[in-house]
Amino acid sequence: MDTSPPVLIQAMRCEPVGRTPVWFMRQAGRSLPEYRALRGGGSILEAVADPELAAELTLQPVRRYGVDAAILFSDIVVPLVAIGVGIEVQPGRGPVLDQRFSSDDDVGRLRPLEPESDLPAMLDTIRIVLHETDVPLIGFAGAPFTLASYLVEGGPSRTFALTKRLMHAEPEAWHRLLGAIAQISLASLRAQILAGASAVQLFDSWVGALSRAEYEEFALPASRTILEGLADLAAPRIHFGVGTGELLAPMAAAGADVLGVDWRVPLDVAAARAAGSAPGKLALQGNLDPAICLAPTDVVLEATDSVLGAARQLPGHVFNLGHGVLPETDPGVLKAIVEHVHERTEQQ
Ligand code: CP3
Repeated sequence: MDTSPPVLIQAMRCEPVGRTPVWFMRQAGRSLPEYRALRGGGSILEAVADPELAAELTLQPVRRYGVDAAILFSDIVVPLVAIGVGIEVQPGRGPVLDQRFSSDDDVGRLRPLEPESDLPAMLDTIRIVLHETDVPLIGFAGAPFTLASYLVEGGPSRTFALTKRLMHAEPEAWHRLLGAIAQISLASLRAQILAGASAVQLFDSWVGALSRAEYEEFALPASRTILEGLADLAAPRIHFGVGTGELLAPMAAAGADVLGVDWRVPLDVAAARAAGSAPGKLALQGNLDPAICLAPTDVVLEATDSVLGAARQLPGHVFNLGHGVLPETDPGVLKAIVEHVHERTEQQ
């Protein structure tokens, strides 16, 4: 019996791999006809509350694409909803609050998360998925900055003006808010790992809105609390954000095993920017532009080769897109990418 860890975990630990592992952020979703057929018209929050359905939605892309990881079908706002924050996830828009957070008093609306009683459906989903597949499951949570931005803006934002106002005008309230969110995301991730997730990803999707100085003062400490709070568990940790070209060095120092890079910075350049910041070896994840996946397949595979070329000297590489799959993507193109990455990187 082969007892070596899955190739995803080997790559994340910077161990030798038989081939480069591939998965896609937002691989479950509207680009899959079987997803649309199964999800119907209900809210995503209803879907994640049904473990059998959520497990099936987690597994659909594994079967269709032959990816090296499943990612739990859930959302970054699920733990906040579970502790009573009024959030609706609107299709095509994203999370919207019934009452936004505007002052220090609102931090009191966040009580500690007790995963076994607050997130039973999420943990059941993990258990069902583990039963159904040998492919490793990635759990995830939102990073404090990105979750705080939804709470403070009341919904998606382009400028993050209210978020930055709170950060600069009331830094103590800001740090209390981020500290409370960090404990919630940490509790959720620990529970996901204990239930069987093989790796986790911390999504700081919107942190690219910050300068490096702002990141180091206002976002990094709470993200570090989460990543270091998982250090005693065996599951490797991925740390990802969008528009983070200026933030890669401090992000690399936050305590993750893998740094997720968006499509704007080639992986060899990203590695140079991160060099010396991480305490040990750092694997990189990424970073094909999801919009390129809308082009003809030969163009997409050429772009895939440039990502693999830039990753050649890395101690560890997990192939992914630079952000989530766009809903317009042809599933056949994603399948072709998986096969191509596997063929091109297969060790003789
Ligand atoms: O990756 C996966 O396939 C697993 C599932 C997953 C979802 N959300 C399901 C989802 C993951 C990992 C997330 C994380 C998430 N949610 C992030 C971080 C990743 C990123 O994209 O940067 C963020 C910022 C959110 C908040 C959120 N939820 C947004 C911005 C949206 C999009 C709104 C839309 O319809 O375009 C959602 C809704 C959402 N989460 C959908 C899915 C499949 C689409 C709505 C649906 O199918 O009902």
